Amino acid sequence: MNVAVVGQGFVGLSLSVFLASKKIHVYGVENNKKKISILKNGKPTFFEPKLNNHLQKCLQTKNLQFIDSLDSVFNKLDVIYICVPTPNKKSSINLTYIKNVITEIQTLLNRTSKKPLIIVKSTISPGTSKLLVNILSKNNKNNLGTDFYFTVNPEFLREGSAIDDQFNPHILVMGTEEIKSKNKIKSFYDKLYSEKISRIFTNYSSAELIKYSNNAFLATKISFINSISNLCEKIPGANVDDVAEAIGLDPRIGPYFLKAGPGFGGSCLPKDLISFIDVYKSFDVPSTLLNSVKNVNERQLEQILKILENKFTNFSGKTISILGLSFKENSDDIRESRSIKLIHAILKENCVINVFDHLALENTKQVFKNKLVYCNSIPECLKNSDCVIIMNSEKDFKQISKQNIQNMRRPLIIDSRRIIDEKIKKIPKIEYVALGVNN
Ligand code: UGA
Repeated sequence: MNVAVVGQGFVGLSLSVFLASKKIHVYGVENNKKKISILKNGKPTFFEPKLNNHLQKCLQTKNLQFIDSLDSVFNKLDVIYICVPTPNKKSSINLTYIKNVITEIQTLLNRTSKKPLIIVKSTISPGTSKLLVNILSKNNKNNLGTDFYFTVNPEFLREGSAIDDQFNPHILVMGTEEIKSKNKIKSFYDKLYSEKISRIFTNYSSAELIKYSNNAFLATKISFINSISNLCEKIPGANVDDVAEAIGLDPRIGPYFLKAGPGFGGSCLPKDLISFIDVYKSFDVPSTLLNSVKNVNERQLEQILKILENKFTNFSGKTISILGLSFKENSDDIRESRSIKLIHAILKENCVINVFDHLALENTKQVFKNKLVYCNSIPECLKNSDCVIIMNSEKDFKQISKQNIQNMRRPLIIDSRRIIDEKIKKIPKIEYVALGVNN
């Protein structure tokens, strides 16, 4: 079986190594030639646990090959996955990349007798699949169910566990509107995935909505607990983690996505929320709830800025240390990271900013150049500093040592995730302030 995966970003590359490790012959298609030469050398272009190993194995077995266009292999392909980005253009979704790929496939379909199954993994707004199928069937030259097959099959993988999520997804959502496409994707996935994994067969619009609703619900849970967190800070004795633990034990609520913090970031939740609000607008339905989810998230950083304002009357000559730059632990991704937004806000003050992150320093340097002090360890970042702000739950940050704290000029810790060890909080003279507790 020959499969092409168009787009070798986070979703496409992890999907390619998964398919190749299942002994399928995979062409990873990527139009960025620099990226291709890096990938051909067995190096992923971003950090993702387990990806490196898998990529190297797939290259050794030759089950995965990187190429820069579909053209040369098109007549061999049984399946074409589409994993290109669908970023935001102002507030609405930008379909330029996906439309370009579909238009190319439409042209290539005219030149072959192959009838590929096209599987869209990219996140797309309701109505997009219909539009894509119309492009593919342009002038009725190629017909759905005869000359090509089409499924919208959204992806739910998380950065940091993308490989495990690929091998063992919690769900397979397949949107089709014609029986042969449905049978094709069903039999392909029956061979690929365990029968224990839930399968949802639906139409295009519902499959498109499932992805947006899923991410919007996760975002809602986070903004909900963050708004409780803000209240806890005002009520003597209150602690958001106790509240979250208790409500999470209600099986109707569940324990996940109830960790209060500086707000959600990353390449998906904020972007999809904005696009989803635009979908509401386009159907003239008020998006009151989602607007609030977005507003709570955008205002969450103010909690940290308020603490800083209370602690410092003047930032001049002060050093602020920031631990954690990526949008979540175990990632080098700084897209929509709350830390990056916080740094932009603090940079307006006249102070020195020390930063440390195990994985995301290089990406951060590209944004801030020489405006920050880039540190290679926690002790270096904290030395002679007037305040440390912990921004993600990286496990090393939990173990800041007594010595590290004593080397600070002022031992002020702002813990946005409440991860610091209890014994550190007991160090004499330490000033410990956490989000979500009444300090
Ligand atoms: C998210 C979804 O979780 C995936 O299901 C989805 O497939 C993916 O987007 C996507 O659309 O491609 P991801 O962006 O990797 O995955 O990250 P999450 O683990 O969802 O975290 C998002 C943000 O929420 C992070 O900034 C994280 O720190 C924050 N978060 C998460 C909290 O503040 N509290 C929580 O309890 C959970």
